[in-house]
Amino acid sequence: MAGSTLEIKNLHVEIEGNEILKGVNLTIKGGEFHAVMGPNGTGKSTLASAIMGHPHYEITEGSVLLDGKEVLEMDVDERAKAGLFLGMQYPSEISGVTTSDFLRSSINARREEGDEIPLMKFIKEMDEVLDYLEIDKNMAQRYLNEGFSGGEKKRNEILQLMLLKPEIAILDEIDSGLDIDALKVVSKGINKLRDDQFGCLIITHYQRLLNYITPDKVHVMMQGRVVKSGGPELAQRLEAEGYDWIKQELGIEDENVEQEV
Ligand SMILES: Nc1ncnc2c1ncn2[C@@H]1O[C@H](COP(=O)(O)OP(=O)(O)OP(=O)(O)O)[C@@H](O)[C@H]1O
Ligand SMILES: [Mg+2]
Repeated sequence: MAGSTLEIKNLHVEIEGNEILKGVNLTIKGGEFHAVMGPNGTGKSTLASAIMGHPHYEITEGSVLLDGKEVLEMDVDERAKAGLFLGMQYPSEISGVTTSDFLRSSINARREEGDEIPLMKFIKEMDEVLDYLEIDKNMAQRYLNEGFSGGEKKRNEILQLMLLKPEIAILDEIDSGLDIDALKVVSKGINKLRDDQFGCLIITHYQRLLNYITPDKVHVMMQGRVVKSGGPELAQRLEAEGYDWIKQELGIEDENVEQEV
C-alpha cells in the first residue's frame, strides 16, 4: 500500500491582515521527497506553520487534505496524530520538560490510550537513534532545546522525526546552522526514513543539502505562491545562477510577499 497523500490546494493565509500566501498548490505523496526553495520572505515558513496549525496564521481560502481529510479543521495535536510532522526553522526551548519526556509523550500522543510505548522499549529505541545521529546521551536528560547550540537543535528535530515516524514531514531549513559533519548525519537520518510510505517536504536555501538528499521534485516560491516546479536539476540551476532568470522568465519584479501599508 502506498503511503499518505498531502494535498495543498489554493491555500491563502493572512497574518495580522496581510496576505502572505496567495494560492499555494502542492501535492506530496508517500514515497516522494519534495524540496521547496525561494528567496527570503516569500512564504516558505508560513506555509509550514499554516499546515501545522500555528495560531498566528489565518487561513482565508483553500484546503489542506491528508488522505482526503481536511487538516485545517483538526486541532494541532490531531494533525500530529494523523501523521504530520514539522521540523522547525527555529525550534522552541521548553524549560522544565526533558527531551526524553517530551519524546515519550509525543510518541504516546500518536498511540491509543492503554497502548503506550513500554518504557524499556522507548529507552532502547531512543538510545539507538541517539547513537545513529551521534547525539550525546546526556542531551536526552536536558530540558528540550534549552541552551542547545543551533546545530544541536536541528539534530534534535531529526531525533524526534526518526522516533515519531510520521507519514508526512515538513522540514524547515533543517540544514541551517549545521557544520559539514552534522549535515551528513542529519541527511543520513532523513534518508533512513525513505521508503514508499514516507513523504517529505524539505524547505532549504542550498543545493548542498540536496546533494545528500536527492529530491524527486523541486519547487520555487515567490510572492506567496509556487511559481515554478521541476526536477533536481532546477535546484542545481538555482545554485549556479540564483533567482533572476526565473523572475525574468515569469515577469516578476519583486519576489517578496507584497505588504499593504
Ligand atoms: N507576524 C507577522 N506580521 C507581519 N508579517 C509577517 C509576520 N510573520 C511573517 N511575516 C511576513 O511574511 C513574509 C513571509 O515570511 P516567511 O517566514 O514565511 O518567509 P520565508 O520564505 O520562510 O523566509 P526565509 O527564507 O527568510 O526563512 C515575510 O515578509 C514576513 O516578514
Ligand atoms: Mg523561513
